[in-house]
Amino acid sequence: MSRAVLLVCFAVSLALAPLVDASVASPRGACNVAGDTIEVDVALIGGGVAGPFAAVKLADVYKKTVVLIDSKDHLGGHVDTAAVPNPAAPGNFFPVDYGVQGYLNLPVTREFFQTFGINLVSTGSALNLVQVFVDFKTGKLVNLPAPSDSAATGAPLQKYAELCQKYFCFIFPNYNLPSPLGPDEKDLGTNFGQFVTKYNLEPIVPIVAGFLQVLSPTDPEPFLVPESHNNSEIYGKIQAHLAGPQLLLSSSVTKVTRSSGGAGAGGVNELWVQTPSGGGGCKHIAAKKILVTMAQTSENMAVFDLDSTEKSVIKSV
Ligand SMILES: *[C@@H]1O[C@H](CO)[C@@H](O)[C@H](O)[C@H]1NC(C)=O
Repeated sequence: MSRAVLLVCFAVSLALAPLVDASVASPRGACNVAGDTIEVDVALIGGGVAGPFAAVKLADVYKKTVVLIDSKDHLGGHVDTAAVPNPAAPGNFFPVDYGVQGYLNLPVTREFFQTFGINLVSTGSALNLVQVFVDFKTGKLVNLPAPSDSAATGAPLQKYAELCQKYFCFIFPNYNLPSPLGPDEKDLGTNFGQFVTKYNLEPIVPIVAGFLQVLSPTDPEPFLVPESHNNSEIYGKIQAHLAGPQLLLSSSVTKVTRSSGGAGAGGVNELWVQTPSGGGGCKHIAAKKILVTMAQTSENMAVFDLDSTEKSVIKSV
């Protein structure tokens, strides 16, 4: 192994609420449009980390018209920050991040925060995490056995580190999967449960459950946070920056039809979006391109006009 890998414990809590609210999509199909069609170059579905970043770049750098849609009432997705009262100063609040705990220390991260005038600092003691295991279906704590002795975990941890090393270039700093997968890359197309069984990784699942990123230990500062120690700060700024008809929050896509011409054919894709009743009801959007920046689960993607191949691909993810 040319370079050892370090698995950094990094907690992400609270799943993003599904973007597509099934109750809105019932009866299935487009909502009743009030008002004109919004015409844009790119419609982005999902206001987590990828959507706002792409929307800002498309609008500011590439001068494209955009519309960004998210089901929550604020941007940020898994980035979430609570306001905890400061007993020493009534009326003042401490930010406490209960979602994403830090940002990857990459040139693209530093440059993007700088655009919004936010200084990034070392995570310091902010990443002092306590790990608990929770069943997201029930919200109940799960009592996973503590990782057993190193004799039982040593070999699987070594194996896991080797596999992470092997696939590192496909997942970091962004997902860049080969298509089609080569014979040596089939693991990238299996789900985590199958992967665990195939390599007998069961003894280390409780340990691995806390790892989100695989980073080089030579990087002394893998994560950064804003000086304010409020990870949502940048999303407040992006929200203000994009505010207007191009930002549809508390909104759900109810139906999408894509241009039959495919990429580059210059056709128009259509989206119907249920917006809060105060904000106009249902919007109809004509977009040259659609960028799906939400999780591409079968449930979320049900509003698209998917063919059977696409459905089976999404189902297997
Ligand atoms: C954290 O930042 C968000 C977005 O700007 C803001 O709405 C929130 O009030 C901040 N929280 C605290 C406790 O400062």
